[in-house]
Amino acid sequence: MAMPVDKGLDHSADLLTEGYHFMRNRFDEFGTDIFETRLMGKKMICMKGPEAVRLFYDDSRFKREGAVPKRIQKSLFGEGGVQTLDGTAHQVRKLIFLSLMTEAAVRRVHQLTLEQWRLEASRWKSGQEVILFDKAEEVLCRVACLWAGVPLKESEVSQRAYDLGALIDAFGGVGPRYREGRRARKRTEEWIRSLIEKYRSGAVADGDHPLETIAIHKDENGQLLDAQIAAVELINILRPIVAVARFIVFGALALHDFPQYRTKLKGADAEFMEAFAQEIRRYYPFAPFLGAMARHDFEWRGYQFKEGDSVLIDLYGTNHDPKSWNQPDQFNPHRFIEETVSPYNFVPQGGGDPARGHRCPGEAITVAIIKASLSFLVEELDYSVVKDQDLSINMSRMPTLPASRMIIQTK
Ligand code: HEM
Repeated sequence: MAMPVDKGLDHSADLLTEGYHFMRNRFDEFGTDIFETRLMGKKMICMKGPEAVRLFYDDSRFKREGAVPKRIQKSLFGEGGVQTLDGTAHQVRKLIFLSLMTEAAVRRVHQLTLEQWRLEASRWKSGQEVILFDKAEEVLCRVACLWAGVPLKESEVSQRAYDLGALIDAFGGVGPRYREGRRARKRTEEWIRSLIEKYRSGAVADGDHPLETIAIHKDENGQLLDAQIAAVELINILRPIVAVARFIVFGALALHDFPQYRTKLKGADAEFMEAFAQEIRRYYPFAPFLGAMARHDFEWRGYQFKEGDSVLIDLYGTNHDPKSWNQPDQFNPHRFIEETVSPYNFVPQGGGDPARGHRCPGEAITVAIIKASLSFLVEELDYSVVKDQDLSINMSRMPTLPASRMIIQTK
């Protein structure tokens, strides 16, 4: 079967202007869940939906090596990290993260998040305006460092939080936004690499925390990780915890836009709180898509894939796929109680099995942080949303946020 082809020399500029809707616009135009386009001068097969997610995570057909553009490794991910590995090397490295995500760790991060919000808010004066996103990044930077065993002076918090945030913000950026991400990576890697070296030389106290787990981790050849790679992996914990600030802001926006749920969340039962947090991860745009590369020629559903073909799986599009979700463009937490959710149709942090493939190992921690922050906003903080601000979400910017980053005023 011929795959629909997005005509034209290159569509990179369209990706930048259409953002989260780039693939959706073409799936709709072609009436398929798959099409071929050209991005950054390369043929690219774009797919969405649960069956395509299943295919994407079949590691006998796809690999990650060579699939993550250098520009992403030099900003968002770091070079030589778990995201770029395949096979045994990936499995062994992934164990670091899987071993950290215990139930006790999830509870601890939940508790730290609540405590750090309380501490942060205790410094606010009544009537003060606060940019929620900026404060959420700082709160989560403290949470991440406390959990990970990374010493952090109060005087460092705003720069470190800013840098970890800049790594994430660089994703779809060109020009200054991207260069800022590169500078932030350099500063962050220097900081964390020197901490790994200090830990290994005995200058930092031992402890049962991610810093130790990563500093003493041995690779598939029984060797300690190079300090630089160890730093990349520790940042792979710090950065995504700070990234949850985006979901917190989207959560606060949902409370504002759909106030009927605010009362329901007050003293909510655990099931509704869970459903609300999950709907935030499904409904709002964050990770747009992921890439991989075909290992060899094969046929899938009548479509031909050639060795070396690059594919993109549309995460946002799969979370909004009308074949998987009822009225996907409506915010409805109850769907997580009523509808069928699988590791292939609900993919805000990747799909499949995190223990076998590249799916995010940090989903339980992400949900815990969202829940702790929501319960703080609903139960403990007396605030209003400042009227004169732009809360629109620009869908061509990746990653995106409400334009004004959500300004609230304390009472
Ligand atoms: C805002 C919240 C988060 C989002 C949107 C997010 C999203 C993602 C996505 C899309 C992937 C790629 C999956 C793939 O390649 O198949 C990923 C991988 C990963 N995430 Fe997350 N994540 C978040 C939170 C976290 C947290 C809290 C942690 C750790 C504390 C974490 C650690 C990782 C790691 C280490 C990987 C690489 C896994 C691998 O390559 O095997 N993430 N995440």
